Amino acid sequence: MNFTTEEILKRMKENVLNHHMDNEGYSDFRNRFLKYFPGLLTNLMDLYGERTDFLYQLEDVIETCCSMFHELQITQKQNPEEKTVGLSTGSRKEVGAVFYVDLFAGKLKGIQKRIPYLNELGVTFIHLMPIFKTPSGLTDGGYAVSSYREVDTRFGTMHDLKELIQGLNRNGINLILDFVLNHTSDQHEWAVKAKQGDIQYQNYYYLFDDQSEIDEYAPFLRDIFPEVRKGNFTFNELMQKWVWTTFNSYQWDLNYNNPAVFIQMMKEMFFLVGAGVDILRFDAPAFIWKRKGTGCENLPEVHTLIRAFKSIMNITAPGVLFLSEAIVHPDEIEKYISVDECELSYNPLLMATLWESLATRKVSLLQKSMERYASLPEGCYWINYIRCHDDIGWTFSDHNAWDAGLDPGGHRKFLNEFYTGKFNGSFAKGLPFQENMQTGDLRISGTLASLAGLEKDLTVETELEVNIAINRILLLYGVILSMNGFPLLYMGDEAGYLNNYSYMDNPDHAEDSRWVHRQTTTCPKKNKNHYSRRIFDRLTKLIQIRKSCRSFSGNSIQIKNLQNSHVFGFSRINMDNSDEKVTVLANFSEGLQVINVSGPVHDLISENNYNSRIELKGYQILWLKDGSN
Ligand code: GLC
Ligand code: GLC
Repeated sequence: MNFTTEEILKRMKENVLNHHMDNEGYSDFRNRFLKYFPGLLTNLMDLYGERTDFLYQLEDVIETCCSMFHELQITQKQNPEEKTVGLSTGSRKEVGAVFYVDLFAGKLKGIQKRIPYLNELGVTFIHLMPIFKTPSGLTDGGYAVSSYREVDTRFGTMHDLKELIQGLNRNGINLILDFVLNHTSDQHEWAVKAKQGDIQYQNYYYLFDDQSEIDEYAPFLRDIFPEVRKGNFTFNELMQKWVWTTFNSYQWDLNYNNPAVFIQMMKEMFFLVGAGVDILRFDAPAFIWKRKGTGCENLPEVHTLIRAFKSIMNITAPGVLFLSEAIVHPDEIEKYISVDECELSYNPLLMATLWESLATRKVSLLQKSMERYASLPEGCYWINYIRCHDDIGWTFSDHNAWDAGLDPGGHRKFLNEFYTGKFNGSFAKGLPFQENMQTGDLRISGTLASLAGLEKDLTVETELEVNIAINRILLLYGVILSMNGFPLLYMGDEAGYLNNYSYMDNPDHAEDSRWVHRQTTTCPKKNKNHYSRRIFDRLTKLIQIRKSCRSFSGNSIQIKNLQNSHVFGFSRINMDNSDEKVTVLANFSEGLQVINVSGPVHDLISENNYNSRIELKGYQILWLKDGSN
């Protein structure tokens, strides 16, 4: 294309922008447009610049931004100028919770009634598992979306969602919803039209007439759900074509090679923003671009696409944050995280290496991994979690494993045996997820409590062991509540819910062991001695301490090498006062560990003071503030 950026900008002003001059808020919009347009143009050129109709497509993108901004202004559903998402300030006060609407509260309306419970926990942002329309039967837990704009009747209506958002806003709670951008369900209107032979919509997906075409991609691809089916393609009888389906065969991958898909998905994204969503969770972003001869994960174009979405959001509704759910190699995860792409990211590496340390009682892999990967650029934050609705995969870097003296392949095998309870002496009761008979790969399902030993100990062990399991749970919580980033609690785990095996009786769930940790949950028992209450009370106390400690704001993190293979340590420095610091010591073994510090220090959790020698009990965690109290 032979135009300069200036020429293109001029054309966009004349053909699009100037038509919107009379709209309220236009001048601010225009300023943001001028700021972000060059970046947006570069990204869109990279993706679609070869097309002869590129400038028309670009006009369409800009026109969509203008009209979406206009709509957001009129409806007052969202005022971009005033939007402040607390999370972006990196505050220690932020604590998240994630849950399935039906399992936690019945319907959307029911969540309002559970706000006091969330308040009691100190929760300030929530991620509702998918709430939009899905086919009946198999839905991949809601991730097979049939309409991005209709709430599934099982949960309520759009009106209920808007009411809920108002209720959340009144209580200072931000909302995360999924932006499922890699695929739609095969029942989505676009897929239905494609099946009826509509070429426009067939171009929304990756369709192939011939087996030989898919054979050019297949050898390089990983099987995500190998227990369910082999390969990444599904033959559709009606169309007599193969469809690209990375996940389940009823989840059709969208084709972002087609700019119409990009523009349509922009509209779906703005629909969520218009409803009042504060943070969009980019579901499985790694897969959204494909190229022959590659694994079709984390391709550079994936980042270009997300950056384009971000520029569009910065222009139209600044303040809306993106959360990356790229559960991939740590070198790849970090590429998604920047203020130009996703400000927030899940931290699967911390999650996986915490479980690794719990199994081995050794912290070397955790320490090496965090030394290399814990720091993030300014304005970006980890979402730290121990469990979520998905499985646990051992996504640590082989390099860090070798460095920690571990053979990565063998070690992953050991971890799988440990967490499925096969390893002699294991405390864990997890289930295998998606065992790949060819590669030997396997991931783990199970609740926090069952994986940490509580299920086993409640049945066959003594009160002493039950206590140990509870201490393991609080140890993990103690780390995610003090590491840099925002903790995200998976509802049910706050009260020590054990695995629930009844999913096996439900034909829609029986094949997917992740349902063992997706269950109806209520409050912990009132009885102070019940394990659920003990976990809940200790957890809420930790959360309160986190919120009161300034060093837990911001992003500072310094990983320590304590010369003790069982104790993980790190420091957090107050960004406003660098003299104020908290050092965290976490003992991953059952035994007593001794650490020498230059005191005096005060443990915020036990409220003990220490001068030099610290004896950490088995599974104890300390949050040490300099000075004594
Ligand atoms: C994400 C979801 C997972 C789902 C997959 C496909 O990874 O967390 O539950 O199966 O995407 O949408
Ligand atoms: C794969 C994907 C991840 C997804 C998970 C679901 O690991 O990379 O995005 O959450 O499968 O099991």
